[in-house]
Amino acid sequence: MIEKSDIESCFSDELNLIQDEDLRNKVVEVWKEAAYRGKWKKIDDAPFTLLIENSGKLTDHTKRITKIAKSIFDQRKEKINLDFLVAGALLHDVGKLLEYEFKNGKYIKCEYANKFRHPVSGALLAKEFNLPDEVVYIIYAHSKEGDITDRSIESIIINHSDFIDFEIKKSLV
Ligand SMILES: [Fe+2]
Repeated sequence: MIEKSDIESCFSDELNLIQDEDLRNKVVEVWKEAAYRGKWKKIDDAPFTLLIENSGKLTDHTKRITKIAKSIFDQRKEKINLDFLVAGALLHDVGKLLEYEFKNGKYIKCEYANKFRHPVSGALLAKEFNLPDEVVYIIYAHSKEGDITDRSIESIIINHSDFIDFEIKKSLV
């Protein structure tokens, strides 16, 4: 079973960017619960995406997005909530732990994901754990679900950071 300490050590640098201790703890709790519900044995087992062959680990993708988002934050003068931005970056794909499963020697999409894509399942789980709506929204809107909404600045940053990483990986296949 994946423990809180596994998640804290995996994302230690990124979690340390969050000032609010309660928010930091909730981010860890949501990852832990998603791993538990998705029956993952190790945090590093989950793949980044099934849309690209050998896409690497979801945890590595999550770290890259958090660092890209922080770099953008560092270059901006606008009022941006860094705690929400980092929490959103760390949780944007947590729903993938509920979207993918390992079956018959390979990763496949779960039945549940045909109705609730990972932005939705991740947002629902974050809401269940009382994360601020700003963070729930970043998760919900990080992909096409957010295209018909008015994105917050934090959400714009995560949406684009995510696609930079995805498109670069895709171009290399
Ligand atoms: Fe992502």
